[in-house]
Amino acid sequence: MKSVLNVLVLGGNGFIGRHAVAALRGVGHRVIVGSRTTGSNRQGTPLDVNPALEMRQVRLHQLLEAEDWMPLIRDVDVVLNCVGILRERPGESYDTVHHRGPAALARACARSDKRLLHVSALGLSSQARSRFIRSKLQGEQALRDAAPDCVIVRPSLLDGDGGFGAGWLRALARFPVHVVPGGPGAHARMAPLSARDLGEALARLCVRSHGSPTTLDFGGPASLSMREYLSVLRPARLGQAWCLVVPRWLARIGSHVCDLFHWSPYSFGHFELMSKDNLPKVNALPAVLGRAPVAIGAAPSACDAGTGTAQWHPSLLAAKKTPPGAVVNRRSPRAV
Ligand SMILES: NC(=O)c1ccc[n+]([C@@H]2O[C@H](COP(=O)([O-])OP(=O)(O)OC[C@H]3O[C@@H](n4cnc5c(N)ncnc54)[C@H](OP(=O)(O)O)[C@@H]3O)[C@@H](O)[C@H]2O)c1
Repeated sequence: MKSVLNVLVLGGNGFIGRHAVAALRGVGHRVIVGSRTTGSNRQGTPLDVNPALEMRQVRLHQLLEAEDWMPLIRDVDVVLNCVGILRERPGESYDTVHHRGPAALARACARSDKRLLHVSALGLSSQARSRFIRSKLQGEQALRDAAPDCVIVRPSLLDGDGGFGAGWLRALARFPVHVVPGGPGAHARMAPLSARDLGEALARLCVRSHGSPTTLDFGGPASLSMREYLSVLRPARLGQAWCLVVPRWLARIGSHVCDLFHWSPYSFGHFELMSKDNLPKVNALPAVLGRAPVAIGAAPSACDAGTGTAQWHPSLLAAKKTPPGAVVNRRSPRAV
């Protein structure tokens, strides 16, 4: 394989895409950013992507046949797909953006011997009621059928500069009250990882040749519940937050209301993903990076020191304090 690659990063203006673009450029590859609109290189984001980057108009929902992709990928060595939508828009359905568009891309890549990397997500299930989740799983399956060599990366939740959801979680962590769902969601654990680590790993995978596993689960170093994660994100100088555990039914209604009014970043898809563990079966990130993934946040845990999973009640608006000097074992599953 060539030492300097031409890499088309679809969704290269997005959260994951920008970190991947920065990492690819950092090691000298030539990057082309695929975007729905070529004049929209986001400015003023904490992650600086050079505004002089070459842009290419790519609308996945309109590229549903392999032939549609051929002119777009002719001059590239690798295609990295970081595209995803949380909510459907006119003309842009989950099916076209997450499934049929990527499937056509995979057929085109297989036909023209281009390397394809695809960013999916952990926790997808065909049993999910969320069409968002099911469409992403269908996309994975279609990619495997069309291009067995395609590398599918499934990260857990991401933290990092420039992420819409990540920014919300960082902001929520600063609130004096942390609202978390009850029921199974209270115990579900995830392995948050740094978007910068993910970008670096994707850049490494662009050059890694055949023989690598084709489906890679990625997670950070810790396994955390949502309430633990919020306290990890909370700056230490703010002290401990109060915890409010809302019943599962209320969390679900909230997710539908957010979907109805297109209020991000919460959705029914998030509700379902947060209802069960979102952990890698085997975490491939350390092997791809050649080092341990960085830990997210540095604050001591605040509201994970409780002894039971309480259901919502006004009296829960009482801070649970970690005694000074106490050691909080973030890895002890279902200890709270
Ligand atoms: N963020 C996380 O914590 C996380 C965790 C695990 C998995 N993921 C998955 O990773 C993927 C990317 O997530 P992200 O956080 O980077 O999202 P993001 O910041 O919203 O970026 C998504 C990108 O997709 C592009 N896009 C959307 N619709 C498109 C279309 N119809 N045609 C072409 N491009 C389109 C957008 O590009 P333009 O606006 O420039 O057109 C946007 O830059 C998603 O599939 C998501 O499910 C995310």
